[in-house]
Amino acid sequence: MSEVRKFRNVNGANAEKTPQSVEMLLAQMTLAEKIGQMTQPEKNSVPPEDVAQYALGSVLSGGGGNPSLNNPQNWSEMTQAFIDAGHESRLGIPVIYGADCVHGHNNVYGATVFPHNIGLGATRDADLVERIGAATAREMIATNVFWNFSPCLAVPQDYRWGRTFEGFGGDTALVSELGAAYVRGLQGAGVAACIKHYVGDGGAEWDTHRSVSWATFWEDNGGAWKIDHGDVNVDEPTFRAVHLAPYLAALAEGALTVMASFSSWRGLKMHGHRYLLTDVLKNELGFGGFIVTDWMGINQLSPDWYTCVVQSINAGVDMVMVPFDYKSFIAAVTEAVTRGDIRMSRIDDAVRRILTVKQMLGLFETDLGTPEMVSSVGGADHRSLAREAVRKSAVLLKNELATLPITAETETILLAGAAADDMGMQCGGWTLNWQGEKGATVPGTTLRMALTARLADKMILYDATGTFSVQARLGIVVVGEQPYAEGCGDVDDLTLSAADLEVIQRVRAQCDKLALIIYSGRPLIINDALPLCDAIVAAWLPGSEGAGLADVLSGDHPFTGKLPHDWIASMDQLPQAARKDAGLVPLFPYGHGLTTGAL
Ligand code: BGC
Ligand code: BGC
Repeated sequence: MSEVRKFRNVNGANAEKTPQSVEMLLAQMTLAEKIGQMTQPEKNSVPPEDVAQYALGSVLSGGGGNPSLNNPQNWSEMTQAFIDAGHESRLGIPVIYGADCVHGHNNVYGATVFPHNIGLGATRDADLVERIGAATAREMIATNVFWNFSPCLAVPQDYRWGRTFEGFGGDTALVSELGAAYVRGLQGAGVAACIKHYVGDGGAEWDTHRSVSWATFWEDNGGAWKIDHGDVNVDEPTFRAVHLAPYLAALAEGALTVMASFSSWRGLKMHGHRYLLTDVLKNELGFGGFIVTDWMGINQLSPDWYTCVVQSINAGVDMVMVPFDYKSFIAAVTEAVTRGDIRMSRIDDAVRRILTVKQMLGLFETDLGTPEMVSSVGGADHRSLAREAVRKSAVLLKNELATLPITAETETILLAGAAADDMGMQCGGWTLNWQGEKGATVPGTTLRMALTARLADKMILYDATGTFSVQARLGIVVVGEQPYAEGCGDVDDLTLSAADLEVIQRVRAQCDKLALIIYSGRPLIINDALPLCDAIVAAWLPGSEGAGLADVLSGDHPFTGKLPHDWIASMDQLPQAARKDAGLVPLFPYGHGLTTGAL
């Protein structure tokens, strides 16, 4: 890898002044070039020639924004075409390419897929999270991606929300500690973090999504969108204490960019929230990097596009993830500046921030990645780091009859549940594409593969449906959620499916002891399964390295994971605040997690 780049901190009282070179560049730029820098289309909507012609500031890959033959080499060539175009623009201002590398460089086939953040929260291990940030950055740099729309600093309050797994947990202090560690890891290795979604995304309430132009879009697309994009209705001291606090920790680490949230606070959408974007983030907290909007996020401000553009930029956003019709965005900003609806000083402030971040990242230099690095994507050292994360993230909720770890006397194991051998379910959403998908999606090790390799001396019989004719000492059933992302995962019933329960019942009848493993992006309602299972493991969405689970199941390593959320007993225990007010106790509290000795 290239040498570690150390950034000075752009944020806070000790931030240095804008570099001289940025001021000189700004002085040479036309209005059109400045507006170009503030524009971010998605790669499928823009030919590289337009990047050069309009001096576009950034291009992104949305979830699944992959080359048609998806591999690290083609990813690298795809991004390079846009980067070359930036260098060919009149002033040669480099493009910053962005992607959602939210659990590794997860769009790229062959990349290491780490556990989603909820699992990292269960590890309670900031050093591990920092190392994962650095490893993710190295895989990104190999494909010329220097900007990660991560980490998500949400503090999810109601896990009917489909983005619960993107946050480290339900406790602000935990999110602050691990979010800061991740920023340190990423930026220490030369990639800009983008802390998101500013601010309060994890506090949105059920059925409060009142978007102007998107409601029908999502209905047409069969989306649920019940919490995601919704409204947070708490007073300012609570809002700051619960949701803003992690940003202070990440800004202290020098986080270079911030993404505005689709959500609103007491009825006012964040994309137009001048108080929170400008007064609080930039002025009070001294944020010196730039704010990017979320995907079509400004469209929700008004049915009128011109109003959307003017309001959001005046509220303080610096770069707009358009992501499709960048020409109409450029036209609207140009008109607004000409008419005096957006001041030139606001444009200059936005561009100064964008150029400063590019300068700090070293993007004005060429040849930042080296061809050899492409082969490091998904390399053995990163996979072994992911395996360490998987074993540290597994939370042992229940363990009676000393069911786990698997004992030496166990000769036959009945392994059941489709999830036991399904890489896509093991990885969840944001894997190769936006929503993720079932099946043999990415290279890695499923739990079935890992157990078969580790326990070669035992007979492991596998049936997805749990139909066995023999009796055995141990049964292991793996169940869980189907992959989803964002509002598509907003659901009001988190009960384990009837089909999963049937698999558990079938295997129960054939074994002496039964261990249940759950793959999920959040706590599920498991009351019916509880009495049937002697041991239960919450494995979250562990990613490509199932061997980490075999490490703890086999007893090679002890279980050490701790719950990053209260594990509720029934749906009427949500939202959490209402449960606490009513004095209802969860099935397992935050911090719960049994340990096992190594054999
Ligand atoms: C893109 C995602 C994006 C989403 C916006 C999808 O089509 O692939 O990257 O987050 O739209 O809601
Ligand atoms: C998501 C963001 C993501 C963006 C780009 C949006 O839909 O809310 O988290 O960074 O798409 O894919």
